[in-house]
Parts: sequence; structure tokens; C-alpha cells
Amino acid sequence: MPFGVYVHIPFCERRCDYCDFATWTDRAHLVDAYVDACVVDLERRYLAAALPPATSVFFGGGTPSLLPAEALLRILRSVPKEPGAEITVECNPDTVDAAKLAAYAVGGVNRCSFGVQSMAPHVLAALGRTHAPDNVVRGVEWARRAGIAQVNLDLIYGTPGESLDDWRSTLDATLALEPDHVSAYALTVEPGTPLGRAVALGERAAPDDDLQAEAYATADEMLSAAGFAWYEISSWARPGAPCRHNLGYWDGSDYLGIGCAAHGHTAGRRWWNVRTPERYVDAISSGRSPESGEELLDSPARHEESRALALRTSMGIPREPALATTGAALTAEGLLTERDGHWVLTRRGRLLASEVSTRLALGTMDC
Ligand SMILES: C[S@@+](CC[C@H](N)C(=O)[O-])C[C@H]1O[C@@H](n2cnc3c(N)ncnc32)[C@H](O)[C@@H]1O
Ligand code: SF4
Repeated sequence: MPFGVYVHIPFCERRCDYCDFATWTDRAHLVDAYVDACVVDLERRYLAAALPPATSVFFGGGTPSLLPAEALLRILRSVPKEPGAEITVECNPDTVDAAKLAAYAVGGVNRCSFGVQSMAPHVLAALGRTHAPDNVVRGVEWARRAGIAQVNLDLIYGTPGESLDDWRSTLDATLALEPDHVSAYALTVEPGTPLGRAVALGERAAPDDDLQAEAYATADEMLSAAGFAWYEISSWARPGAPCRHNLGYWDGSDYLGIGCAAHGHTAGRRWWNVRTPERYVDAISSGRSPESGEELLDSPARHEESRALALRTSMGIPREPALATTGAALTAEGLLTERDGHWVLTRRGRLLASEVSTRLALGTMDC
């Protein structure tokens, strides 16, 4: 059975204008204590319950590549792992160098996920990113030279000021780097971010829904033509290269969350940790649980949730007789298609996935 370990690293050099992730730019003094706390948390979790060795470990953030390589590898060493486990580190192109990536590879990291967002300088500036496109090219080259087997590139589309031609050029430049995996996210305007405030005040334009839909279709066409297959709404991979860790989230497998703001799903229970690094370090160092909440789903709620998650993937959901009417209507509207006894989202359906999910849930209630 797959079992993932997610480790949250809540530090960034600078906050991008659009980002509301749990991350801080003024907490460098906490890094050592935080790394120690992650190691202790892992040891305690594995001692307290018969958890299986990890089939995947994912360092996400924030910016995990901001940590000294040895600090990240210290956490990695304290995770019991299956042989051949997938080990991913999210990297900001501005916080890697050849030596760091070589140390990752020697320490067992076999997948790097770079935050690229765009290869157009004016779009990067509009997003408040610090890196230049060349830094991505350099980072990917270092990762390959170090022997990191898998490279993912994260993109954002639909930034106001980004034309469809800009987006096509970004996709071309991305493909030229020969990644194994591409994630493409529609820019979302989060309240409380510099972008969210500027849009609320009318100082900046909001993303245009129609342009974002066109950008999504363009990505799907160009990536498919280059040999990538979509396997989750925002994720495309070369054959054999889907992210095993993320697949675990979508197929309802168990996973452990380490670090502040991390979520876990173990033994039928979903739980999440305190949001700030201070509170996390404090809880661990005083012997308390870092959890700040939990949720126990009853069986119908679990079924609903696993259906919504599976619907996001190219596996789709098994055709349920109880949903024949809703499924037929969604198929007739071109939002679902049938494959091997499953309903799978069409490209248009992927753009309207929440609506499709809601209608399937309402369809269940009607029966
Ligand atoms: C933790 S970051 C990746 C690593 C590193 N922190 C970086 O940004 O270079 C995860 C990804 O989430 C995506 N993301 C974050 N906020 C977003 C937003 N408001 N809209 C769309 N994508 C977003 C970006 O593509 C980003 O690369
Ligand atoms: S997008 Fe990445 S680098 Fe930018 S603030 Fe968010 S986590 Fe940090």
C-alpha cells in the first residue's frame, strides 16, 4: 500500500504577490529548531503507531531548497522508507546551486519540482517572482547533471498581462527543458495577498476566466502533442512519470504530515498541525502533539470525498447505477466521457470539475 510522508518547510526568501501558503520570510532564526522538531516529530509518530515505511516523501513549502542540504537530508534520513521510494523536493530556481542539487542526489532525492510559473520576464514581474528564466534553465541542468531522475516544472497561467502567445512561448520553453512532469495552475487571487488587495482596490485586473480556459486548452494540446498525458486536472506526465506522492492524495491512501500547517490522513482520521513554525517548535519541544484539529468522516462523507478526488484524475469514477441519470446528462453536455466502465472528465469537464462534482453529489441525494 502506498504511504506518503509530507514535510512542510515554511520559509521563503521573499513572498510572491499571489501566494497565501503557510510560509514566512523573517524566520531564519527558527530554521535549526524547526529541523530538529521535524526529526523529533517523525521519531515520535513512528514510535507511537505502527506506521509503514514511506513509499514517497515530499518536501513542500514554502521553499524547501532554502534549507542547507544537510538539514533537509537530516529530516529525510529520519523517515523510514521503502526501497525505491519517490523523494521530491520543491525548489525555487533562486535557492539552488550545483553543489546543493548534487548533495540531494547523493542523499537519495530523486525528484525535483521547480517553481517556474512563467518563462516571460514581464509575467514573472507581474507575479512578484524574483527569478529570471535563465535561472530555471541553469537549475534544471544542474539537477540533471547531479543525476536527479525526475524533474517537474510548476507553471501558472492566466496572469493579467500574459497573452496567449506569452503562454505558448512559456510552454515551448518549458518543453525545451525536457521535464518529466509539468503542473499548470490557473492563477487564483487569494484575499490577503498583495495581489488580492490590489485586485480588491481595482489597482490590478483580475484574471479573465475565458482566457484562463483557453490557456488550459492550449497547455493540454501542446503537452499532449509532446508526449505528456494528463492524469490529474493540473498535472501532465511522460509515461511512467506521474507523481506517486500526489496520486496517493487523490486515491485516498494514508499519509503523514510533518511540520507546521501539514495535514495527515492516518487510520481513517484526517488531522492538521498548528499553522506557525513557532507553535510547531513549541509543541514538539514541550512534548505535546502538534495537531490543532481533526476530522472523522462517516462512510457517506468518505465516499463523497473519494469520488470528488478520483473525478479529478484520468482514472475517473466507476459508473454507479444510482447516478445513471446525472451521468447521462453530464455525458450529453460533453463534460464526462465513458471509458472502461468509468466516467472520466472531458477537457471541458476538467474546467468545470467542481460543478460536475456538485451535480454528481446532488444526483446521489436524489436517488
Ligand atoms: C510551494 S510553491 C513551489 C516551490 C517554491 N516555493 C517556488 O515557488 O518556487 C508551489 C506552487 O504552487 C503554485 N501556486 C501557489 N500559489 C498559487 C496561486 N495563487 N495561483 C496559482 N498557483 C499557485 C505555484 O505554481 C508554485 O510553484
Ligand atoms: S510561491 Fe513559492 S516562493 Fe513564492 S511565496 Fe509561495 S511558497 Fe514562497
